[in-house]
Amino acid sequence: MGHISERESELPDTVVNKLLCIVAENKDVISLSLGEPDFTTPKPLLDYAKKVIDKSTHYSPTAGYSELKEAIAKKLRKENKIKCEPDNIIAGTGSQELFMAGFSSALDVTEEVVLPSPCYLAYIPQIELVNGIPKLFQLKEEDNWNINSDELKKIIDKKKTKVILINTPSNPTGNVLDRKLLEEVADIAVENDLYIFADEAYEKLIYDKKHVSIGSFNGMEDYVVTFQTFSKSYAMCGFRLGYACGPKKLIEAMTKVSHYITLAPPSLSQLIGIKALSLPQIYIEKMRKEYDRRRKYIVKRLNEIGLKTATPNGAFYAFSNIKPFAQNSYKFANSLLTKQKVAVVPGTEFGKYGEGYIRFSYATDLKLIEKGLDKIEKFLKR
Ligand SMILES: Cc1ncc(COP(=O)(O)O)c(C=O)c1O
Repeated sequence: MGHISERESELPDTVVNKLLCIVAENKDVISLSLGEPDFTTPKPLLDYAKKVIDKSTHYSPTAGYSELKEAIAKKLRKENKIKCEPDNIIAGTGSQELFMAGFSSALDVTEEVVLPSPCYLAYIPQIELVNGIPKLFQLKEEDNWNINSDELKKIIDKKKTKVILINTPSNPTGNVLDRKLLEEVADIAVENDLYIFADEAYEKLIYDKKHVSIGSFNGMEDYVVTFQTFSKSYAMCGFRLGYACGPKKLIEAMTKVSHYITLAPPSLSQLIGIKALSLPQIYIEKMRKEYDRRRKYIVKRLNEIGLKTATPNGAFYAFSNIKPFAQNSYKFANSLLTKQKVAVVPGTEFGKYGEGYIRFSYATDLKLIEKGLDKIEKFLKR
């Protein structure tokens, strides 16, 4: 009968998914588009996976094995200074699943999440899938992509807003929010009795700055849900393992939802996650240093060729202004792909305020980045 729900029909088709297919099928395309580490998972973890695969054939509890939740709570207390116990933790099939469980648990129909744009592409469709309302506040290049807390205050609706969502380090801008700004956001949440969903997927990939977890501020453990993941820090995207830490009542609700979505995160991934949390930091540090080397190169080169780019202090993205060359970022990206076989992501993938910008990923070998930028330079001079 072919009926597709209105809700589903209105979901945007992600350009990123199309790019994944194009890049996989066309070996001559240089991809500066993808949001996943080009590194493989550290070898000790892969070796360990082979050893424990026989122990991974059963479901785990929905929120994850106790040993994993204990290791995560210990990590969050030690590294992020967040007050928490295993009861405050839920592990999920990537942090992406947990955002869905979080929105579903925190929002009734037509209640709002206030969130920045440009922002990670999954938030808006996920909020809409649970019939909530995403209310965007604009991040601006001239503010170095920082949150303007006055703007944030203005768009909160006393009755309807339930969640403020922040993402630091940010995908797509690479911006890292500093302590003072986070304190302002925390005050706004407390004044209005709102949850803060803090997406810290890239907390370990940080350059010349320090990552601060808003959940570590005094008393904020009652308001903040911190989302982190093994995907980026440990190059474990394919294992699909993330976690959230928050107020116990909300975590229990998220666990209920999660049970009906995925039942439980993959058992093998959880065993590897426990092992990952005991690895020396050097494995992450090696990857971070290499990203940093690429970051310095790509930002300098993009600015030299006329694509104005603020220096990102986190993640592995550069977000560049293409307005002197084109007004429509989708057409720009499409034309670059067709003419020079370089894949990049149009800013509109990250919400309406991303128009006029392009996201470049430097989770790609430096030699390819150099080659890609030569081609982009040629493309701009056409
Ligand atoms: C900002 C941000 N949050 C969350 C995710 C989802 O990560 P995962 O589901 O692999 O934990 C991503 C993935 O790219 C991301 O960029």
